[in-house]
Amino acid sequence: MAQKAQNVRLSKDVKPTHYKIHFTPDLDSFIFSGTEDISLILKKAAKSVTLHSAEIEIQKATYTHGKMSVEGVVSYDDKAETATISFAKPVPKGKGVLHLEFAGILNDKMRGFYRSRYQHDGKEYHMATTQFESTDARRAFPCFDEPAHKAVFEVALTVPSDRTVISNTIETDIVEHEGGFKTVSFAPSPVMSSYLLAMIVGHFEHIEKKTKRGTLVRVFVRPGKKKQAEFALGVAVKALTFYEDYFAIKYPLPTADLIAIPDFASGAMENWGAVTYRETALLVDPDHSNVHARQRVTVVITHELAHQWFGNLVTMEWWTHLWLNEGFASYIEYLAADHIFPEWHMWTQFLFEDHARALRLDGLKSTHPIEVPVHHPAEISQIFDAVSYSKGASILRMLATYIGEKNFRNGLRHYLKKHSYANASTEDLWHSLEKASGKKVGKLMRDWTSQGGYPLLAVSDSPKGVVVKQSHFIANGGKGMGTKWQVPLAVMRATKKKPDQYMLTGASETIKKYPANEWIKLNAGETSFVRVKYSPERLALLEQELQKKRPALSEEDRFGLIRDAFALAEAGQQSTASVLKLAKTYQNDESYIVWATITENILRISNMIADQPYFGDFKRYVRELYTPLGKKIGWTKKPKEKYDFTLLRGMVMSVLGMHDDPDTVEYALKHFVQAKKGGIHPDIRGTVYNLVAMHGTNEQYAELKKMFATEDLEEEKDRLLRALCLSRDEKHLQVQLDHAFSPETRGQDAVKALAFIMNNPHGREVAWTHFKRSWHEIERRHGQGGHLFPRFISPLSHFTTRQKAAEIIMFFKKNPPTGTERTVEQVLEQIESNVAWIDRDRQELTLYVAEA
Ligand code: BES
Ligand code: ZN
Repeated sequence: MAQKAQNVRLSKDVKPTHYKIHFTPDLDSFIFSGTEDISLILKKAAKSVTLHSAEIEIQKATYTHGKMSVEGVVSYDDKAETATISFAKPVPKGKGVLHLEFAGILNDKMRGFYRSRYQHDGKEYHMATTQFESTDARRAFPCFDEPAHKAVFEVALTVPSDRTVISNTIETDIVEHEGGFKTVSFAPSPVMSSYLLAMIVGHFEHIEKKTKRGTLVRVFVRPGKKKQAEFALGVAVKALTFYEDYFAIKYPLPTADLIAIPDFASGAMENWGAVTYRETALLVDPDHSNVHARQRVTVVITHELAHQWFGNLVTMEWWTHLWLNEGFASYIEYLAADHIFPEWHMWTQFLFEDHARALRLDGLKSTHPIEVPVHHPAEISQIFDAVSYSKGASILRMLATYIGEKNFRNGLRHYLKKHSYANASTEDLWHSLEKASGKKVGKLMRDWTSQGGYPLLAVSDSPKGVVVKQSHFIANGGKGMGTKWQVPLAVMRATKKKPDQYMLTGASETIKKYPANEWIKLNAGETSFVRVKYSPERLALLEQELQKKRPALSEEDRFGLIRDAFALAEAGQQSTASVLKLAKTYQNDESYIVWATITENILRISNMIADQPYFGDFKRYVRELYTPLGKKIGWTKKPKEKYDFTLLRGMVMSVLGMHDDPDTVEYALKHFVQAKKGGIHPDIRGTVYNLVAMHGTNEQYAELKKMFATEDLEEEKDRLLRALCLSRDEKHLQVQLDHAFSPETRGQDAVKALAFIMNNPHGREVAWTHFKRSWHEIERRHGQGGHLFPRFISPLSHFTTRQKAAEIIMFFKKNPPTGTERTVEQVLEQIESNVAWIDRDRQELTLYVAEA
C-alpha cells in the first residue's frame, strides 16, 4: 500500500508547549468557531510551520516573536491532514506564538467536535462533545496531533448561559455576557497529549462525592438520569483510591468527571479528568439493569481510570505502542474491579472475556504482532482490536504470574514515576519490570510482542518423560510460519496441590516423567498464552477425571480444556463429534466461564450449520446438553444463589429456546405479557425478548418494536434491538436494516443491527445486500480512521460459502476499505475456515448427532 510508506510524522523542529484555546460552539446551526494561541519553540528559523488540521477552515494566522508579528498564508494537504502556515520571510528560531482563527462543523460522525442528540419530555435536545483519540483533535482545532507532542492546554468556551460546560480541569472563571451567553474558563491542564483533550456542552445534571484524598468525583448525565449515575459514582471513587495506592502516585487533578454521552463511537474515552462514556457503559438503573450491565460498567470505569496513570500520565511514544495503553488497562481493570467486587471473581471471567477472545483472533494467519508499525490515521483504527487489548492483557498476566505480583507492581511504579508527563515505549516498560524482578523480562516478552500468533503445545509420552512440542497454531488448520516462543509453563498433576514450573525454549522439550495413569494438565490456571493438544492417552485420563461428580481440575483448567477442544476441532486436529461428546462430560459443571465458552461455540456451530440436513438432530443434542443445567438454574433468581447461576440464567434459557425447547419457548411467550418494564427480572428480560422475536406472532414482534421506539434506557434498547434482529422472518429483518441506517437510529446502533443480522442465518443474505447498498454512507461516516469502520466489516466473517467469499473479494476490489485491509483479510480467512470445517465434519457429525 503506497500510503504506508508515506511519512506522516510532523517535523521535530517545532515543539508546542502551551495552547490557549477559545471555542464558541453554535448548537442550533451545528458549527463552531475558535481562536488559539500556540506557544512554540522553533529549533531552527522557519519559512513555514506545518501542523495537523482536518475539515477546518483557518481564517487567520499570525506568528509573533518578541515584538515582531507576521501574517501567515495557509495551505492544506487533505491527505496528510495538515495545514501549512507560510511566512514571507523566515521566522527566527526560539520561542514564538502562533495565533490562529478558525471555524468548523459540529459533525454527526462521533469524532472530533461533534453533536449528540436525545429526547426529553417530548422535545429534542443537542449537546456538543469531543472524541479525539486517535487522530481527531485536528478536526476540532489546528494542533500538533501526535502523542509525543505533549503540551499544556488552557481552554475557554462561550456558550448559552443555561448550559453546563465540562473540560479536563476545574473551571476557574465564568463571565456572563449580554444576550444570554457566558464564557467559562478552565484551569490549565497538566502537560499532556492532544488526544486527551475534551470539551462537553449541554444540559446536564450531576451527582458528586469526594475521595478520601479529596478529589471531587462527579458523574454527569442528561436530565432525569441522576439515579442511574449512583452506581458509577461509587465505583469511580473506590477505583481512584485503589489506583493511587497501587501506583503510589496521587491523582493529579482536583476533579475527576465521568460524563454519559448518548451518541458515542466506542465504550468510553479516558480524556484526562473528563472521561466520556456511552450511556450503556456508565449508567445502571437500580430496577432495570441486569447483572452483566453492572459488571460492564465496573470494568469500563476501572479501565478508563487506569488510563489516567497508564496512558495519560505516561503515554505511548507513537501508536505502534498502542498496546501499552490498551493492553495494560485491559489487564489492570480486573485488578481494580476484583478489589471492589471480590465476590464477582473477575479474574476467572478474564479468561472468557479476554484470554479466549485473543486466542481466537490471534489464531488467524492474518493477525498482527502486538507491536505493529502504523503510519497514516486510517490505519490506526484497525489496531484497536483483540490483539492490542486482550492479547496485550493476557501476556501481561502471564508475565505478572511469572515474576510475581509484587515485583510486577513495583516495576510499574518505577515505570510511571520515571516517565511521568512524558512518553515511553514497550522497551521502557520491560526495563522497569526487569529492574524490579531481576528476571530477563525483555527477552521473554519480545517473543510475544514482536511476532503474531501463539504456540500450540502438543503433549505426548516418551520413555524419558513427557514431550512438549510447540508449533505456531493456525485456527483453520493451515501451516504456521515456523515461529517459536519462550513459554513459561505450569503443569498440574492429580497427586499434587501445586503445579510444576518450566520454561520452554525449544521446538521440542522433554519435561519430567509423569506416571502413565496419572492425569496432567498443562498450562495450569491458564496463565500462559497457548493452546494445548494432548495425546489420546493423556486426553482419556483427563476425560475420566471430568466424568467424576467433583473433578479435581480447577475451574480455569476445565475451561481451558473445552475451549481448546473446540479450537482443535475447527483446525481439523480433533473431530467435532468428539468435542460434542466431551462437552457432555461437563453436564454437572456449574462454572460460568465453562458454560459461556461451550455456549459461544455451540452458537457458532448452530449458525454455521443452520441449513444442513442434520441441523434438527443437532438442535436435539443441544437441548439435551443444556436441559439439566436449565432445570437446576430455573427462570427465577433465588435468594443467595451461586453467582455463576445469576450470570448464566439468561444465557442458558436463550440457548434452550433458540434450539426450540418447547417448555422454554412457552415460558417466554407466556411471560412476555408482563414484559412492560418491571414485569420481568432484568436478568432474563433479554432472553424473553429474544425468544418472542424468534417464536412469537407478528403482533408480538410489533410490540417489541413499539417498546424499542419509546424506550429511554439505552441498556433496555440494546436488549430490544438484539431481539428484533433475531427474527426468523426475512421481511422483519429487512425493515430492521432499513431502520438501522435511518436518521432515527444512533450511529453506534447501525453497526450493531448489521452485526446481529449477519449473525442470524435467516438474515445474512439481506444484511449483505444492505451492507453493499449502504457502503457509501458507512464510508462517509466512519471511513478514514473512524473507530467503528472495521466493526462494520468484521461481521462478514459469519458467511459459510466460497461463493460469498468471492463476492466479498469482488466488492472490496471495487470499493477499497482504506486502512481496514487487514480486517477484510481476517474475514476472508475466517470464511475459508468455516467452509473447510463444515465440509470436513459433515459426515461424522451427521452420524453423531443422529445418535446422541
Ligand atoms: N482509549 C479507548 C477508547 C478508544 C477506542 C478511542 C478506540 C479511540 C479508538 C478506551 O480506553 C477504551 O479502550 N475503551 C473500551 C472499553 C474498555 C473497557 C475495553 C471501548 O471503548 O471499547
Ligand atoms: Zn482503553
